[in-house]
Amino acid sequence: MAVTALIGLQWGDEGKGKVVDAVSGSVDVVVRAQGGANAGHTVKVGDTTRVLHLIPSGMLYPDVVGIIGNGVVLDPFQLITELDALRDSGHDLDGRLWVSNRAHLVLPYHKEMDEALELLRRGGAIGTTKRGIGPAYMDKAGRVGIRAGELADPSTLRDRVIEQVEAKNRLFASLDVKALDGSAVADRVIEAASRLAPMVTDTVSMANDAAERGREVLIEGAQGSLLDVDLGTYPYVTSSNCHLGGLLSGSGLPPRAIDKVIGVAKAYCTRVGSGPFPTEDHGEAGQQIRDKGNEYGSTTGRPRRCGWLDIVALRFAARTNGVDEIALTKSDVLAGQSAIKVATSYVVNGEETTDLPAGSQFDAAKPQYAAFPGFDEDLADASSIDDLPATLRDVIAFVEEATGARVSLVSTGPERDQTLRR
Ligand code: IMP
Repeated sequence: MAVTALIGLQWGDEGKGKVVDAVSGSVDVVVRAQGGANAGHTVKVGDTTRVLHLIPSGMLYPDVVGIIGNGVVLDPFQLITELDALRDSGHDLDGRLWVSNRAHLVLPYHKEMDEALELLRRGGAIGTTKRGIGPAYMDKAGRVGIRAGELADPSTLRDRVIEQVEAKNRLFASLDVKALDGSAVADRVIEAASRLAPMVTDTVSMANDAAERGREVLIEGAQGSLLDVDLGTYPYVTSSNCHLGGLLSGSGLPPRAIDKVIGVAKAYCTRVGSGPFPTEDHGEAGQQIRDKGNEYGSTTGRPRRCGWLDIVALRFAARTNGVDEIALTKSDVLAGQSAIKVATSYVVNGEETTDLPAGSQFDAAKPQYAAFPGFDEDLADASSIDDLPATLRDVIAFVEEATGARVSLVSTGPERDQTLRR
């Protein structure tokens, strides 16, 4: 079997879209396994920049087959919008994109609930993407969700949607949210179903068949390890497992099928939404990273919080995912900083630790830094990792030492060819 899992090692937005694109040229099947349209995977091909939310980014290559796996929560309307936009720009996905019959649907009432729950959290709001992700996973875990397999039978689908809208309306009444019209929602879902039902199939068998036949399969992670609902900075996380375990349960592929785990990390850190971020820089350095790295959310447009590379968190993510290789992205963004800081440990309640704390201890973590000299060189013309400034190579060696994983790819800019491999 030749299955690669590609996972974000930070709080999402690590540049996974570009790395997926870089490794997809030789891939036969690409699978999304968790999350939903909260993701925004940016890929730049020539003069065109595309942001994909649900469709696997690897599908921008013409012969790659794409799977939206059972672990994804699927907004049918968003998928149609994305399919149309790609078709209009010459990417025909007909006959090569498949949706798991086990994937749960994100429907309009999930978005309403996402908004309402955020308001209820008041000062503790998570800062969700408002794409209905949490409430859709709540329905899945609560065993009332509607799955893509149900799109094939419009009359039962209508009853199921109306039943769910009515249940949610009872909840909305207590939350001061306007009731939805079940019949109108059902009409919209049935219209979307007529377009999507032919794509719905048993993708678990499809992925396993492909892997067993030795085809190259890439499982494309969404969000990042520190947003994982179990291992991330709970409760400031998303509602899926973004770790390797989630990529397995969300695709139906067995652990033994995985040959390689590639972790993607930026040469610094960002996060959107609330929650602990020990190495956040509120000063000039953070602003410089935001401006130079264009650190604004690709799904919501929100400015991202920016700060320094956090080796404590990176080591945790590399360890808990069993990462073999690291792709280090956006290294060029650090040019012009007077020094490059890297957090090597935390002090929590007076004690130094290299373990990642949980819960409120994380809020109290004070990062301890190592500093590397800054560099001013433009990396646009670097053609190998050896061409990079010595200070950046030292940072890379430091990352390798701390994580035990080889840095196999360094991205030096948004273009496809600004990707150095070894
Ligand atoms: P949700 O996934 O919309 O429920 O949002 C929960 C948290 O995860 C919020 O802080 C979001 O900003 C964050 N989040 C969700 N998806 C992404 C992503 O793809 N990149 C970065 N942050 C994300």
